[in-house]
Amino acid sequence: MLVKQRRPRGFPPGPSPIPVIGNIMSLATEPHVFMKKQSEIHGQIFSLDLGGYSAVVLNGYDAIRECLYHQADVFSDRPSLPLFMKMTKMGGLLNAKFGNGWIEHRQLASNSFRYFGSFQKPIDQKILEECMFFVDAIDKHKGKPFNPKHLVTNAVSNITNLIIFGERFTYDNCDFQHMIEIFSENVELAVSGWAFLYNAFPWIEYLPFGKHQKLFRNAAKVYNFLEQIIRRFSKGRVCNFPRHYIDDYLNKLDKCAGDLGTPYSRENLIYSVGELIIAGTETTTNTLRWAMLYMALYPNIQEKVHMELDSVLGSEKSPSLADKKRMPYVEAVLHEVLRFCNIVPLGIFRATTQDTLVSGYNIPKGTMVITNLYSVHFDEKYWCDPGTFSPHRFLDSNGNFVRREAFLPFSLGKRHCLGEHLARMEMFLFFTTMLQRFHLQFPPGTVPSLTPKLGMTLQPLPYSICAVRRQQ
Ligand code: HEM
Repeated sequence: MLVKQRRPRGFPPGPSPIPVIGNIMSLATEPHVFMKKQSEIHGQIFSLDLGGYSAVVLNGYDAIRECLYHQADVFSDRPSLPLFMKMTKMGGLLNAKFGNGWIEHRQLASNSFRYFGSFQKPIDQKILEECMFFVDAIDKHKGKPFNPKHLVTNAVSNITNLIIFGERFTYDNCDFQHMIEIFSENVELAVSGWAFLYNAFPWIEYLPFGKHQKLFRNAAKVYNFLEQIIRRFSKGRVCNFPRHYIDDYLNKLDKCAGDLGTPYSRENLIYSVGELIIAGTETTTNTLRWAMLYMALYPNIQEKVHMELDSVLGSEKSPSLADKKRMPYVEAVLHEVLRFCNIVPLGIFRATTQDTLVSGYNIPKGTMVITNLYSVHFDEKYWCDPGTFSPHRFLDSNGNFVRREAFLPFSLGKRHCLGEHLARMEMFLFFTTMLQRFHLQFPPGTVPSLTPKLGMTLQPLPYSICAVRRQQ
């Protein structure tokens, strides 16, 4: 249950709420920026009234490390918000309550990443094959302006498709693309004012209008699509010889048949597949779209990337993960994109598994916790001039790549991103394969907006770019 009492004794302070709706209206534009500003007034740990239930917001690296790392077990639940209950009944993987069901689903998915990622061929080889489809498709635009969003989404989603379904989908598969589109719209709607209102007043489900209705319609279509596709890919399954994640899941389901406590179910399979597809696609796609935009915006940085690629790879050799060590500048650029662009600015909402004490504040069991990852990446205690895009902050004076402590794009603790390793491989291989071949520039006379489109993830507004073949 969520904490309904507004301010239990010793609870962190926060901004004054408006009667009934609390602080919900303040979250309408750039909630991560609003929360960072509030932390300057109320402290790194403060609370918000979200219309009858309270949430604790963690800001800055110290507070987030204190809770997610030093009290990892306590801060590892997901809040039982009406919206999440309606969407996934708190089952599946990403939204699952902390406990046996989550452990089993996380383990199964991470085994699949390891096993199906390296089945027949190592995963980096498979990513490189997709990179070739990707650059061929870019080449078809012949240096003319195009919006890279769909192409990047298709290419990136194919890596999770290989693991989940054992197959890639062609870039003209409209049904799959439509599913991703409406799923991604839901990632945006899930943090809209209407979603917060629904969580506070679930009876608005019966209002015939409101963005939450769109969210429900989209979810029904997505689950229907996933059910069909799962049925299609599970045909021909042979027990003990799983071909992909779906086979592996169904084998587990069969083995646990009759066990009343099993967390495996057809429904949880659909939720997990959906979560893996969207968590894997939306995030990595947005990172690459921001990276392309910033390369065109800063030609001097792009030139340094080109110089490094030319010296390590030349024009013929394909990049491989082994080259990463010799490409500190590329690593620095990708890290700075993740820091500066804050792909998942507020993480994924957490909840406490038991009553706890942090920095003198009492936080009861079941409290919703928001991790402001944006505030970590703009934490002045750890970053000099955080509002400037500067890959150099990840390099030492000899040009070697240096890890930075207050860098948490994948979050921290027990619920930290399951796909971090895969995402890092994808970003490096897609980025280097593309930049080895193309010079990125905006169509003459245009500079796109840098204002992000708001949602659970931050993505660039649609923009056009020209990918001009390089002469090396
Ligand atoms: C969770 C970021 C790529 C799967 C998360 C969380 C963040 C995140 C911030 C929230 C963790 C928390 O609760 O504190 C990112 C970023 C990515 C990326 C920035 C790419 C640049 C991926 C990929 C996959 C993936 C490629 C899988 C295909 C997941 C899953 C969770 C998660 C399953 C939920 C983990 C759990 O609840 O146990 N990610 N992610 N992510 N991510 Fe990622």
